[in-house]
Amino acid sequence: MKTIIVTVFIGLFIFTSCSITNNGMTEEDKFIEDLLARMNLQEKIGQLNQHTSQWEMTGPAPNAKNTQDLLEDIKNGRVGSMLNVVGAEATLNAQKIAVENSRLGIPLIFGYDVIHGQKTMFPIPLAEAASWNPDLAVLSSSIAAKEAAANGLHWTFAPMVDVGRDARWGRVMEGAGEDAYLTTAFSLARVQGFQGDDLSNENTIAACAKHFAGYAFSESGRDYNVVEIGGESLHNVVLPPFKALAENGVATFMNAFNTIDGMPATASSYLQRDLLKGEWGYDGFVVSDWNSIGEIMIHGAAADLKECAYRAITGGSDMDMEATAYIKYLEELVMEGKVDVKLIDDAVRRILRIKYRLGLFEDPYKYSNTDREKANIYTDEHKSASRKVARESMVLLKNEGNLLPITSSVKSIAVIGPLADDDDSPLGNWRAQAIPNSAVSMLAGIKAAANGIKINYAEGCKLATAGRAFPTHLTINTTDKSGFSAAVNAAKKSELVLLAIGEDAFMSGEGRSQTDITLRGLQQELFDAIYKVNKNIVVVLMNGRPLVIPEIAEKAPAILEAWHGGTEAGHAIADVVFGKYNPSGKLPMTFPLNVGQIPIYYNYKNTGRPDTGNPEDNLWSSYTDAPNTPLYPFGFGLSYTTFEYSDIKVSSSEIAIGETLQVSVNVSNTGTVDGEEVVQLYICDKAATYARPLKELKGFQKVSIKAGGTEHITFKLSDKELGYYFPNGKYVVEPGNFRVYVGGSSEVKHSVNFSLK
Ligand code: NOJ
Repeated sequence: MKTIIVTVFIGLFIFTSCSITNNGMTEEDKFIEDLLARMNLQEKIGQLNQHTSQWEMTGPAPNAKNTQDLLEDIKNGRVGSMLNVVGAEATLNAQKIAVENSRLGIPLIFGYDVIHGQKTMFPIPLAEAASWNPDLAVLSSSIAAKEAAANGLHWTFAPMVDVGRDARWGRVMEGAGEDAYLTTAFSLARVQGFQGDDLSNENTIAACAKHFAGYAFSESGRDYNVVEIGGESLHNVVLPPFKALAENGVATFMNAFNTIDGMPATASSYLQRDLLKGEWGYDGFVVSDWNSIGEIMIHGAAADLKECAYRAITGGSDMDMEATAYIKYLEELVMEGKVDVKLIDDAVRRILRIKYRLGLFEDPYKYSNTDREKANIYTDEHKSASRKVARESMVLLKNEGNLLPITSSVKSIAVIGPLADDDDSPLGNWRAQAIPNSAVSMLAGIKAAANGIKINYAEGCKLATAGRAFPTHLTINTTDKSGFSAAVNAAKKSELVLLAIGEDAFMSGEGRSQTDITLRGLQQELFDAIYKVNKNIVVVLMNGRPLVIPEIAEKAPAILEAWHGGTEAGHAIADVVFGKYNPSGKLPMTFPLNVGQIPIYYNYKNTGRPDTGNPEDNLWSSYTDAPNTPLYPFGFGLSYTTFEYSDIKVSSSEIAIGETLQVSVNVSNTGTVDGEEVVQLYICDKAATYARPLKELKGFQKVSIKAGGTEHITFKLSDKELGYYFPNGKYVVEPGNFRVYVGGSSEVKHSVNFSLK
């Protein structure tokens, strides 16, 4: 065995001396072709097979293998990748089996869900997107990559780039919200952070654009449900972030559980072959989602697992996660002449390519280094980065009478709520290797910063009472109010209340769809009881999705959206409420007024009968029992200062297709403290062949402006922003009249017109 491995590595050394070989191939291609030529069919199929470890499951394991069988499979070259094997030592041991015992010694690639940190947890991705500062996503992902790589991992199943408009779907916490432009910006940043500039660097890992495609559009917000989506939304809303990542070097893609207009995404040759590997020229590989190949049959689109394998490989899925369809049936399908071996060769090439780029053929053990593992994980530097990201992710939703920041005249604060002293929920769902209960709770953060202020703490009520784990069902407390009276007393004897309510970490994430996204359990009642005795309430929301909170929005004088803010959440909250940091976040997703408005999003189309705003007007596109408008719109967020926009101008009232337009505006800080503003640019294509949204985000800049200062901001618009996709996927730039808006939220009114000739 050893000799063969050595040959492979010696081969690599010779090839790395120059990048183009004398027959015009790159060294990488030459290496891969050389190796492929030595592989037999079973070994090729082995590369397409991915298994989970038995230690940690992130899905139901219909084909669970015992460890001994799994090890035998690795030795026999029947496994190309593993997921959920974590740790320098564990990965080293498994890798040794592949490298030292299998005939060709091809290293395994280890994947894991590193979604918002490995051990140092950062705010959940939805929160991070609320910062509108993609540089923070580069920072958090690069630290997550460094920690994951030190844990022996090569590959994360992130970022999730699904654009989501339905807050009932629990997985919105994993994405960047409802807008394709913002999602693209954050997805590119995350890939940059994970992969860096060189995948073979020992501190970087391969990223994965998921879930291809349409998963967030699951009907009625129910996870894994069918997706019915027209071509116009598919191409303009769902696909742009995927396309951007494919064209900018993301190493891998993951397909999706859902059917899309009846076709299982995992079997979709339109998505995976025509678009991704065809039109977009993608050379990485596509991994299936967990048993999504096996689920083709359950959808009703294959008669048995063998047909699943056929449909997935012909559809363009390269690696089979946990369905065992490929390992069981691909050989037979090739022998029967049903599957062309060329398809298998193509999938193998793609997988070997990423292994090559990770440097695994050069040194298959380089990620599994226990010294690095000790030094690089959960460091003070990483924690302070997490605090920085967390405070910039918070969104100030309301601040009547400038209740925030808390002034030095306040001498007593009641810290109340089921999430107030929760040191676990801030870690969020999809928490990789986070240590349970390792977050700084809000109470701990406030106490650390209180500087002599009297803190009166009371929990008030519990939120979740059982089932706090990834695979289990959560039980919510709906009866036990025994903590209410202590909470009311704490509120009575304090000048101000900080009330932490929202969602437990395990209320959002995979498999956590809800029809009710109001405050669950006894939280509203707790608020009401406190409000009776003290109206100075700052509600601090901790949650993984937009919530429906109309009563809180009406009564509470101040609301701070803190999300699930990660390891340092409590310190970050203290930074904001005491004014050490002036909040600058803006919502990446609309907060509905009621669940019946969902899906609700800012970039809607006008309809032929737009809402008149008059409740008497029945025959218009409106509800008879609620307005069309949300509670808080996309892009909204306050600051401790105020900003004014003036002098919005375009460089010309008319440009030709192919030319660039400059849009400029002056933004003034009209308050008394320095602050940051997210300047947002939206366009409206007023008359197009296909109706376009009333507003579409096409640019944003986060700027720091001194109190009393003014900044001149400019944006550029060209064909890239002004065109759109026809339902058939063709990108067109149509002449006509446009309106461009610049302001501090999607409800911006300041606009200027121009035309495109
Ligand atoms: C299923 C999820 O949909 C996917 O996002 C995740 O990466 C895999 N399980 C692996 O845990």
